[in-house]
Amino acid sequence: MEKYGTSMKIEKHLMDGEAISIGGIEQEMLLPRARDYLDIERQYHQIMFLYEAGINQLESRINILKREFQFSNDRNPIENIESRIKSKESILLKLKRKGLPMTVSALTNNIRDIAGIRVICPFIEDVYNVARMLIKQKDVELIEAKDYILKPKENGYRSLHLIVTTEVQFSNQTRKIPVEIQIRTIAMNFWASTEHQLRYKKDREFTDEVQKELKECADIMAQADRIMQNIAGEFNINLELW
Ligand code: GTP
Ligand code: MG
Repeated sequence: MEKYGTSMKIEKHLMDGEAISIGGIEQEMLLPRARDYLDIERQYHQIMFLYEAGINQLESRINILKREFQFSNDRNPIENIESRIKSKESILLKLKRKGLPMTVSALTNNIRDIAGIRVICPFIEDVYNVARMLIKQKDVELIEAKDYILKPKENGYRSLHLIVTTEVQFSNQTRKIPVEIQIRTIAMNFWASTEHQLRYKKDREFTDEVQKELKECADIMAQADRIMQNIAGEFNINLELW
């Protein structure tokens, strides 16, 4: 896919606030060494090696950007970078939930968040700038973008989600590895991390009252982000990255 077209599309998407899907992930994209008829349980590490390679490559690219800005600017658009590989249990649960067979091809063709990277930024504008910087990189292709900042989830969740593929060079071939990148501000991350703990650590449903309170908290965070962004504007802090 042509790079310029890709970034134009995300710009359009960022204006519309609608998820766009730029082609599916090709069937043969991953072609794991693992055999399809063997279960994922036994091949987990073999498959995960590919996704780990994708994470390592993208994470190191993001780290390079981070270091570059530390040297050339007096501020940093990237506060923190985290990454994770989806656990075997979560993968099996997701396949089951989607009614898919427990095969390697079902996994590689349908689950796109096996490799995950989260980038935390100080300002809202940094989120979009980091996203643009990433997708304009050579060998990085945008598959889908979901803008939950422009259109937050009903519960108040805000974040920019990208599914990209990154081309990884192995000994005898190049493979496109899908990676989910979540980019959000510190305030958005505060809300998402704490809400996640409340939701997953305890095996309980939120009451309407709690949902309302969580939504209020999300709105306060959104307001804080807007205030910070405005102050940055007043102080002439350079939010443009290129
Ligand atoms: P999944 O099956 O969960 O991957 O849903 P999806 O493929 O429709 O993706 P979606 O964009 O809804 O969410 C993907 C990821 O974003 C989740 O795995 C979480 O890490 C994060 N996320 C989405 N919604 C919420 C939320 O309400 N609270 C928190 N804390 N995280 C969320
Ligand atoms: Mg997911």
